[in-house]
Amino acid sequence: MTAAKVTPEAIRAMKGAAPIAALTAYDYPTTRLLDEEGIPLILVGDSLGMVVLGYPDTVPVTLLEMEHHTRAAGRAQPRALLAADLPYGTYATAPEAVANARRLLAAGAEAVKAEGGCAIEDRLRALRQEGIPVLGHVGMLPQHVREEGRYRIKGATPTERAALLADAECLTAAGAFAVVLELVTPSVAREITQRIPIPTIGIGSGPDCDGQILVFHDLVGTFPWFTPRFVRPQLQAFAQMRAAIAAWRASL
Ligand code: KIV
Repeated sequence: MTAAKVTPEAIRAMKGAAPIAALTAYDYPTTRLLDEEGIPLILVGDSLGMVVLGYPDTVPVTLLEMEHHTRAAGRAQPRALLAADLPYGTYATAPEAVANARRLLAAGAEAVKAEGGCAIEDRLRALRQEGIPVLGHVGMLPQHVREEGRYRIKGATPTERAALLADAECLTAAGAFAVVLELVTPSVAREITQRIPIPTIGIGSGPDCDGQILVFHDLVGTFPWFTPRFVRPQLQAFAQMRAAIAAWRASL
């Protein structure tokens, strides 16, 4: 029997029922691999800017680049829900958000992710009004790292805690099916998880979220020049690749 296609509603229904495992993929073989391993939520993240395209951060990633990688991932026709990031500067207004999200859907995405909470609620509502499934993202927003100056933990002060809770509520009200919590203090991540009815998917936000998401390259060690401190890689694939290259070269 073929397992059923994962929908945004199915991800939402996993809250309280099963931990949600989510990973990034930016190409056909990785998407196919993750899907064959039963990962229910696959994200074509704009993190591809760093781990694939060699940019210093996600800010330079273009919509054309996201479409290209979403098409590649989509060709795997995963049973998993395939979400894609709206890159920096592509959802400044509601009409732009809708038009650009439609381009990602046309490329093969089944949901879009946008960074921000109450500040972008109007755009998230516009997407939902057009029937476009939305994955929220609050906490550290990598698309704003240049303004922030660095990647830093959010929620350590009462003001930040209140802002994060408000953002999570705004996303819920706007109709997001789940929300990524990036670099949120574990206690605030737990509080948000207990308070909102949609799943929280943490990254560097402690164990008490409804699910966890990682950049695939961090998990398997295919970008060894930088690994976030909260990641425990399961494999050092680059070390094995280096050994294979050296062995082949020595065999000539
Ligand atoms: O771009 C990305 O890969 C992400 C996550 C890992 C959450 O936004």
